[in-house]
Amino acid sequence: MDFDFSADRVPRYYVDGNPFKTTFVTALSSLFPEGEFFFVEAVRHYRNRITDPVLKAQISGFIGQEALHSLAHKAFNDAATVQGFQVDKLDRDVGFLLRQVKRFTPPIVHLAATACLEHYTAVFTEMLLKDEEVINTFSPEIRNLYLWHSVEENEHKTVAFDVYEAVGGGYLLRASFMIPTTIVFFAVIFWFQARLLAKDGQLFKVRQNLKGFNYIFGRKGVLSSLIPQYLDWFKPNFHPSHHDTDALLATWQEKLFGEDGLLTAKIMTPSKKLPH
Ligand SMILES: [Fe+2]
Ligand SMILES: [Fe+2]
Repeated sequence: MDFDFSADRVPRYYVDGNPFKTTFVTALSSLFPEGEFFFVEAVRHYRNRITDPVLKAQISGFIGQEALHSLAHKAFNDAATVQGFQVDKLDRDVGFLLRQVKRFTPPIVHLAATACLEHYTAVFTEMLLKDEEVINTFSPEIRNLYLWHSVEENEHKTVAFDVYEAVGGGYLLRASFMIPTTIVFFAVIFWFQARLLAKDGQLFKVRQNLKGFNYIFGRKGVLSSLIPQYLDWFKPNFHPSHHDTDALLATWQEKLFGEDGLLTAKIMTPSKKLPH
């Protein structure tokens, strides 16, 4: 995808002109380059054990999509770093954290963590596609990035889960592992967002930050309203396809990549990349 995140295309506070909302989304983005590479490795580790040709093909699709998300978010993070947010430092910290996870836990735990986080991304991105009110507060190029990412997350949301089950991963590990995953995920997000706000001189703007916090985590907040879907994970017979997004996906695939699609012109073809 040919995104342009340069400062003249992306305002400093690209979500609703609001520093709190913007740094929350930037903190999220800082997790993607290393995080999605971790997902790719976790799934790829088990690829040779999968015999079902359909799942094998889905794994290839998953790896391709996550690798491209990694690159797109890296490009955005670099642009945010140029604007003075030091996302590069956060990115390095995520890398360090994930290297410790890889060092001290077995591959099945990496896969369980991947399936848990893919549940997060599926629930979050389904909301972005369904309730356009939230994504419409993003400035145009960032909205494009998250629309594209959201569609692809929903396209491949069953893959890590199916690989986990196919290699014998059980209910107990996947359900219990969601708890530390959630704690670490939000601890990292809050820590990173505090650093971004501090760097920007916004950390002690208490009223502004409380308002932003309430918008995301308060009663009827953007994330708190997703708790029921999040909790579905703990049902023993849960499968990501139970959150049916087929119709939603078909609508967005057409809107983004149809003949006059919003993002059709942004698809990079090999000829576009060749020097003249
Ligand atoms: Fe992704
Ligand atoms: Fe994903």
